[in-house]
Amino acid sequence: MNPLLDSLQSYPFEKLRLLFKDVTPPAGLAHISFGIGEPKHPTPELIKQAVIDSLGGLAAYPLTLGTPALREAIAKWVGQRYNLPHVDPATQVLPVSGSREALFALAQTVIDPKKNARGEPAIVLCPNPFYQIYEGAALLAGAQPYFANSDPARNFACDYSAIPDDVWARTQLLYVCSPGNPTGAVLTLDDWRELFELSDRHGFVIASDECYSEIYFDEARPPLGGLEAAHKLGRGFERLVMLSSLSKRSNVPGMRSGFVAGDAAILKQFLLYRTYHGAALSTVFQTASIAAWSDEAHVRENRAMYVQKFSTVTPMLADVLDVRLPDAAFYLWANVARTGLSDDEFARRLYADYNVTVLPGSFLARTAHDTNPGRDFVRLALVAGVDECTEGARRIVEFCRSLKS
Ligand SMILES: Cc1ncc(COP(=O)(O)O)c(C=O)c1O
Repeated sequence: MNPLLDSLQSYPFEKLRLLFKDVTPPAGLAHISFGIGEPKHPTPELIKQAVIDSLGGLAAYPLTLGTPALREAIAKWVGQRYNLPHVDPATQVLPVSGSREALFALAQTVIDPKKNARGEPAIVLCPNPFYQIYEGAALLAGAQPYFANSDPARNFACDYSAIPDDVWARTQLLYVCSPGNPTGAVLTLDDWRELFELSDRHGFVIASDECYSEIYFDEARPPLGGLEAAHKLGRGFERLVMLSSLSKRSNVPGMRSGFVAGDAAILKQFLLYRTYHGAALSTVFQTASIAAWSDEAHVRENRAMYVQKFSTVTPMLADVLDVRLPDAAFYLWANVARTGLSDDEFARRLYADYNVTVLPGSFLARTAHDTNPGRDFVRLALVAGVDECTEGARRIVEFCRSLKS
């Protein structure tokens, strides 16, 4: 067996299952889950209809490259969303079967696993806390993950200037997540300027995970994207790719549809890798994805539901926890230190007393540089309906007040 498999960590939800192993929540209270970040709003009719209308596509093998029509729809969306004058559908976009699979596969394409003269493996740099796929992708590519802790005092930005030069020298791939899971933080133009300078100096690829880009709270201020930042700074897309997805934007996590866009030279090799890997998106879903990327009305409606939930739930929780509206995405990243409980104890007792699930922040981060930056935080995914989220928040408030009495 591949020995690298043994280096993989169990998933946060497996850790949560173990944490709750001996707990029986109160039977009289229906379970409310803020745990898993799976979109729960209904899938728009126009996408369901497009799936039905294109079922004939099941009769053919799908193209890994994607149909020209889908590539054009994606290129058009990227151009409009990020104010880019030209995105070439032939070379600068590639459909993928959800951004998770592409985040993983990209490391397998980009990483040169040869160790350096000192016998040290390549480094994949990840934010901390982070989406666990980055770490698994790095390990299975034969690289070593290196964690840059996010700093609550700097809106959860990572202090890249603190990373030693010998680490940068070995870095081949940097994952960034903007808007971030779990913090919701969005990288600024200044953050991007710093990252591009570092990439120019050290030659690593930047993979910008932007799957939450369409969940934000002010219609006039959509989150800045990586390609957009590059263009604003007068650059091309060299060593830069962004990954996006319909899962959250269009409430179709089951369709497994996303794309990668950016540096044509990286995408060319990525396509080569993918033809062997065999993760082509079904033609049925390629056609339905054209409908989804070509319509913004359903995306605005989706956002409006999140705005309603966050504006109800955030002030309720801010009375008892340190929490505020994030820049974007559908998570609240709440500091529970003032309850006197650790993050996992908070999650366990909340489940035991009120049948509400939240994810301990330390499960979403690694101990690095002597600290686990997820410690004292819990993540709440506000994915259920507004009534359920409000009831969950009400129970959390009651729980926190019960700790004081
Ligand atoms: C940060 C982040 N990236 C990527 C993904 C993968 O999304 P999908 O594969 O549905 O596009 C998720 C899913 O939860 C996520 O949280």
